[in-house]
Amino acid sequence: MILAVCGKGGVGKTTVSAIGAKALAASGVKALIVDADPAAGLAMALGIEPKRTLNDVRKAIIEEVKAGRRDERDLAVSVDYLVAEALTERDNLAFLSIGRPEDVGCYCKVNVILKDAIEMLGGMFGATLIDAEAGIEQVNRKVMGAVDYVLLVSDTSAKAVRVAETIRDVSGRMIPDAGAGLLVNRVREPAEADRVESNTSLEVIGRVPEDDTVREFDAGQKSFFDLPECPASIAVEGTLTAAGFLS
Ligand SMILES: Nc1ncnc2c1ncn2[C@@H]1O[C@H](COP(=O)(O)OP(=O)(O)O)[C@@H](O)[C@H]1O
Ligand SMILES: [Mg+2]
Repeated sequence: MILAVCGKGGVGKTTVSAIGAKALAASGVKALIVDADPAAGLAMALGIEPKRTLNDVRKAIIEEVKAGRRDERDLAVSVDYLVAEALTERDNLAFLSIGRPEDVGCYCKVNVILKDAIEMLGGMFGATLIDAEAGIEQVNRKVMGAVDYVLLVSDTSAKAVRVAETIRDVSGRMIPDAGAGLLVNRVREPAEADRVESNTSLEVIGRVPEDDTVREFDAGQKSFFDLPECPASIAVEGTLTAAGFLS
């Protein structure tokens, strides 16, 4: 199963993904974790330092072609090579970071490679978890074509819920067979989540409390692999189970 964590910037996508990655590590399932946000927050949250990102490998290949060390025809067929070079393994997990393309205009090229990579790798792993870029672009550009479930994340703000609804509309068109559900994050009081739930047509599949342990791990840049059981981790794991992603 391939699950993508989507939503507005700053709502908690990376936090949810990091807690999910920790749960997958504990489950022993062979899993692929994709940091698809060019800001690369997930690698940091997990304390992983990928040797090479997908974009690094892509750039290296283009340079080889320019220098005449590689045949241009190779470029089209190098996706599996690109991906293998960019994977960082840790026990049962493999980690893929797309990186940040510096030159303007190459986002879509990296996205195409990312799409191919997700499709190619998805079948090789029992579970794939994608921390998506904020907003709708990756869904809109069909990067998420192979995704089975779109986990929409919002905080309790109306703006974040509207972004989640927009992503749901787009994903409903682009990947009509994928499931979708909303995780309401940073809930301080049940009434806040009740209000969100009564003001949206999205199915709310989880409520995650505001949690000091999460804040402390973020501030201290500690690896979420070391996160102790806490109210947020329990709620995120419950939500991923409700989505059918964890058993
Ligand atoms: N449940 C939570 N409790 C406390 N702080 C949280 C919680 N979820 C996220 N945060 C904090 O909110 C900020 C944004 O979260 P992040 O996961 O980076 O969002 P995104 O990936 O969507 O941009 C971070 O500082 C993170 O520590
Ligand atoms: Mg993030």
